[in-house]
Amino acid sequence: MKTLLLHCRTGFENEVCAEIGDLAGQMNIAGYAKARPGTGFAEFICNGGDDLEHLMKKVRFSRLIFPRQWARGEWLHLPEGDRIGILLEYLATIPACSSLWLEVLDTNEGKELSTFCRKFEAPLRRALTKSGYLLDGGAGPCLLMTFRSGREVFVGIAEKGNSALWPMGIPRLKFPRQAPSRSTLKLEEAWHHFIPRSEWDDRLTAGMTAVDLGASPGGWTWQLVNRYMRVIAVDNGPMNEKLMDSGLVEHQHVDGFVFRPRKPVDWMVCDIVEKPARNAALLENWIGEGLCREAVVNLKLPMKQRYTEVKRLLERIESGLAGRGVQAGIACKQLYHDREEVTCHVRVFKS
Ligand SMILES: C[S@@+](CC[C@H](N)C(=O)[O-])C[C@H]1O[C@@H](n2cnc3c(N)ncnc32)[C@H](O)[C@@H]1O
Repeated sequence: MKTLLLHCRTGFENEVCAEIGDLAGQMNIAGYAKARPGTGFAEFICNGGDDLEHLMKKVRFSRLIFPRQWARGEWLHLPEGDRIGILLEYLATIPACSSLWLEVLDTNEGKELSTFCRKFEAPLRRALTKSGYLLDGGAGPCLLMTFRSGREVFVGIAEKGNSALWPMGIPRLKFPRQAPSRSTLKLEEAWHHFIPRSEWDDRLTAGMTAVDLGASPGGWTWQLVNRYMRVIAVDNGPMNEKLMDSGLVEHQHVDGFVFRPRKPVDWMVCDIVEKPARNAALLENWIGEGLCREAVVNLKLPMKQRYTEVKRLLERIESGLAGRGVQAGIACKQLYHDREEVTCHVRVFKS
């Protein structure tokens, strides 16, 4: 398998190329990345036999910033008549898989193809199970098929537990009707991405304290309150009245870059639209000064060199914290609900 397919938000194909090219370079894996703008995917083409397998085993998918999904494999052309026959023939040449996802790209054409995929999935699944290729729940890799049209599919695999949490990396989150803004889904998605579900009851729990910088009208605060945390909401703008009625929110009309809590808090979240370097410095200061133990901060992206800039900021946070003797886990992702931005998560390791 010589091709690594990487899904992404449309418009970020070059960032994916830069990121995967950088990683491959660090691992001495020869190859080249290519993409066409607006297609919602990029490819990394490799010459060496097992290089892609090696790369996908060494790199944690969740650590990648811009890719939403990945799989190594190849593009197949399918005839109008017997698509399943051709797929079975091809799949006989690669290891049996333990799960199957049919995916499309996050483009208008992709959306139109979703109906086709829904109809195609049941007969395909039946045929793969009957042939013994698909061993549901087994130890084999995940089979990820990305349809570009009804006649063109990328048939790829990814190691179990090392690909997107949801098909195409798009979370199925329901907008909570009581939440004051759609931004609420950004913080919920961040938690799903950065915090294993099994740890939510310890790390997002009743009685914890949080500060929400740039909180108005309260979408992120709503998520914190929904986990029964006490929140200081910092913003000159108004907060949703119903949310204030919860009795768990204190509204501070002050500058988020100046505000400091009286006592350290468990969580700091920040959705202020500012230069990314300023938000990154804020994040470093809060964690570095011990003002919070865990934080989620939104970083707006510049127009150009977006991967380079994010990498530079992450390195700066890392070296800044190391310089202060703080050991912390730093992660960053362009979430599905992020637009021209990425979400950064930092957690202080317990000493
Ligand atoms: C994208 S909105 C936040 C939306 C909010 N997270 C939600 O879910 O409803 C950005 C907010 O940052 C606030 N803001 C901008 N500069 C700020 C500053 N220096 N200090 C505090 N808030 C600021 C704005 O008033 C605005 O309400």
